[in-house]
This record gives sequence, structure tokens and C-alpha cells, in this order.
Amino acid sequence: MIAVYGSLAPDVLTTCFELPWPFACASGHNLKGAHLTSMHPKVATTGAMPLSTREMAPDALGQKVVVVGLGYVGLPLAVALARKFPTVGLDIDQRRVTELEAGHDRTGEIDRDRLDASTLSLASDPAICPPADFYIVTVPTPIDGANRPDLRIVEAASRTIGAMLPAAVAEGRTPVVVYESTVYPGVTEDICAPILEQYSGLLCGRDFFLGYSPERINPGDREHTIDKITKVVSGQTPETLERVAQLYASITSGGVFRAASIKAAEAAKVIENAQRDINIAFMNEISQIFSAMDISIWDVLAAARTKWNFLPFGPGLVGGHCIGVDPYYLSHRAEQLGLDPRVILAGRGINDSMAGWVAQQLHAKRGKKPGSVLVLGLTFKENIPDLRNSKVADLVTALGRLGHGVRVHDAHADAEEAIHEYGIPLVADAFKRKYDMVLLAVPHREYLAMGGEALRGLLKKGGTLADLKGELGEAADWTL
Ligand SMILES: NC(=O)c1ccc[n+]([C@@H]2O[C@H](COP(=O)([O-])OP(=O)(O)OC[C@H]3O[C@@H](n4cnc5c(N)ncnc54)[C@H](O)[C@@H]3O)[C@@H](O)[C@H]2O)c1
Repeated sequence: MIAVYGSLAPDVLTTCFELPWPFACASGHNLKGAHLTSMHPKVATTGAMPLSTREMAPDALGQKVVVVGLGYVGLPLAVALARKFPTVGLDIDQRRVTELEAGHDRTGEIDRDRLDASTLSLASDPAICPPADFYIVTVPTPIDGANRPDLRIVEAASRTIGAMLPAAVAEGRTPVVVYESTVYPGVTEDICAPILEQYSGLLCGRDFFLGYSPERINPGDREHTIDKITKVVSGQTPETLERVAQLYASITSGGVFRAASIKAAEAAKVIENAQRDINIAFMNEISQIFSAMDISIWDVLAAARTKWNFLPFGPGLVGGHCIGVDPYYLSHRAEQLGLDPRVILAGRGINDSMAGWVAQQLHAKRGKKPGSVLVLGLTFKENIPDLRNSKVADLVTALGRLGHGVRVHDAHADAEEAIHEYGIPLVADAFKRKYDMVLLAVPHREYLAMGGEALRGLLKKGGTLADLKGELGEAADWTL
């Protein structure tokens, strides 16, 4: 059962007494102009008086949590925390909150049944978000056009939380602000803490404390979920570390790892992704080398992987907002320190240029003659709707520049978002035509279920079935 802070309607004030903590806390705030609605109209009215401050005392009611940012990371975390603690999920995107209220998670991470069963409360307006013991930040940390960290969103979230802290302290709590957003070492303590102090008028390390716990969620992965993975935790003081550790230990069976410092935890996250990026870059580089020698990379890898310590990476397009972005956070900090992070940036360079190289390969495969192309899949990886930083979009653009007429189909992506992000229309009737080339760019399960022969059926005579990741085996005419 999820309660939502939205429009201030009479039915919500009744709901609030069914869900004492958030609504009672909200009652201690200025609700004027607030938008307060309930996802659960069936909840019965149980009273009309707000809970008293005494009833709200932290000792009496235990730990409370606010999760700021309900995306791929924040929503699963908030739902998991809500099983153990009174938890509010705050997101500035009203559309997102309204969708969640209706039981729809557009990221596909939490299904309708789990949303309906959750006791998570939702808020779109920080002004009515109740005081808490933990404020957890799960907002995006992208890069700008020059591949520099863009911290504006995490800074804005820090301003929001800063303004919320005094109410928590006034209730006798000692709040901990835990950052989960991926950053470079130093952002939590050197950039966010001063903002929290400025907007709260409180002292960090006395009135409130900092923690950092990197997120390892892997969208679409139903095995390594938040309730099973080992969670790295860190805190500003030994006591804060223990509080953060206890919080996360209560929601995962994978245990917690207490990092030596906040900076060590920040650094651990950023190198987890940089390591993957560099290894994939090596795979992409050797793909290009072996392609020039007419040797299949897949044949090479099949042989090499029989060695006990050969790492099982593969070539491909590196998109999304983690692996293709986080290394730039680390390289930025390295450059600030006067260092030259050559390996990290070389990896980024190779991976960022891979889409253009693939387009050239496909063009050559077609005898450098432009034709009609159907690209299957636009998302940054299979079986999820996430279009952010899709390198398939670069590939589509590159094929277009080479003169090909490209149509794109995606079984998971949102058509409006594809237009908004890339100006690429997703065609619904893709399978009614025939093409000179069909490219399986993202192996969504729907395409794999069709199988190689059905995909070949979409080709004109003499057409090419291209299979970026080598999923179709012998059925394909081209792969990396
Ligand atoms: N998605 C992943 O696979 C993944 C994995 C590990 C770490 N991370 C990191 O976690 C962080 C969040 O990523 P994500 O994929 O969940 O992002 P996301 O874009 O899916 O979700 C972020 C949410 O935050 C909301 N938001 C933005 N500013 C806000 C504010 N000031 N107050 C309240 N809500 C706000 C947005 O509306 C959005 O719903 C990033 O730093 C990312 O690098 C992501």
C-alpha cells in the first residue's frame, strides 16, 4: 500500500491517520498549497486529529527514512526500506509520482503487485515531506557536453535536504544524509556537505552526519537485487558508519561492507564501473584488430575463456549512464589533481568511437551501397526501457550519414522518449516490410524469441542479417 503526497484533498487528510508517520509529520509542516493525494482511496477514515509531537518522538517510533529520487536506483531501494522502516520516496517529477501512485513503474524494476503491496509513501513536494533520521540521495549524476561531471542535480537535492534537516533536528533526531548517487571521491564531503550546512544553518558532524553507500543495482537483472547484494557502506564517524550499516544490513541478505572512509566508498563505486569500461574497451580494440585479420572475435574468446584466469568480458557498445559516464567522474578528479588518466580516457575513447566503427563495417558489408536498414533495439542494453546515452542512436545516425534509410524498432523503449532524446521515431509496423539489412543491435528477449530464421524473413533477396553481439549464431551474416 503506497501513500502519496500530492494534492491536498480531504480524503488524504483522512488517509493520513491510517499512515501515522508521514502524514503526522506532514501535519507539523506548512501544508498550504501542497499537493496531497492517496494511492489508496479504500483506506478507511480512522480519525480527524493530528498525532501529537510526543507520539512522533523518534525513540517511540524508531528510524524513519526519506529517499530522494525515485528512479532505477531510488525506487527499489525505497520499496525495500519501506518493508522495515516508515519510508517516504520524494521525487520532483510529478508525472513519475502519479504513475507510481497508479501502480506503474516505467523503469520496469518493481511490478504492480509489489508496488501495491508496499507501504512506501510518495511525495512530490519536499515542503510536506516529514522529518526523518535518514535522507538517502539517489538522483542522477550525468556528464555535460564536454564529458565533465554535472553535479547540478545532486547539488539541488542537497539544497532540498538541507532545508529539511532543521525540522528533523528540532524533533530530537540526529539525521544522517546518505549519498548513493555515483560521484568522484570528495563530492559528498567537500561539495554536498557545505550545501547541506548552508541550507540548514546546521553544523555537519555535530547536528547531522554524512554517509555514502554506492549503488550496485543492475537494471533488468533479477538475480543481483538490492535485497541480495553486498552493500558497501561508509560514515563520517564510527557511530554514523554503524547507523548506516545497520540500516542497510536490515534490507539485504548479502551483508554490508564497512568501507574505511566516505572517500574510499565513493572511489570503490567509480572504479567498479571504470574497470568494466576499460575491459570492454580492450575487447572492442581486439575486435577491430581481429576483424582486419578476418578472425572472429567470438572464436578467439571461446578459446581464450578456457583459461582459468581469463576475464569473461565481451565487445559491444557501451551506453547508459553508468559505465560510459562514471569513468569521466574519476578522470575529471584526476585531471584536477594534475594527473593524466591515460588508461581511463583511452578506454572511453575506444568505446565512444565503437558505434561509428560498427557503422563503417556494416556499410562495407553492404558493398558501400546505401540501402534500407531495420535496426532492432535502441535502449542501452537488453530487456530494459532505458534509453539514456544509447550508443545505438549514434550507430543509427552514422548509418544515416552514410546514406542508408534506417528504421528503428524497440520492444521496450518509449516512443515519445526516443523522439525527445534522439529525434528517432520508433516504428510499430517494422515487421511488415523487407529490408536490405536487419541489424539486431540490442538482443531484447522478444527478438531472440523470433529467432534467426524469422529475422532472415525480413530481408530482401541478397539482404544482410547483422547481429552485433553474436546472439544468433550461424543465422547471421555479420557480427562483431
Ligand atoms: N541505473 C543504474 O543502473 C545505476 C546503478 C548504480 C548507480 N547508479 C547511480 O544512481 C544515481 C541515480 O541513477 P538512476 O538511474 O536511478 O537515475 P534516474 O534518472 O532513473 O532517477 C532519478 C530520479 O531522481 C529524480 N530527481 C532528480 N532531481 C531530484 C530532486 N532534486 N529531488 C527529488 N528527486 C529528484 C528524477 O525525477 C528521477 O525520477 C546516479 O548517480 C547513477 O549514476 C545508477
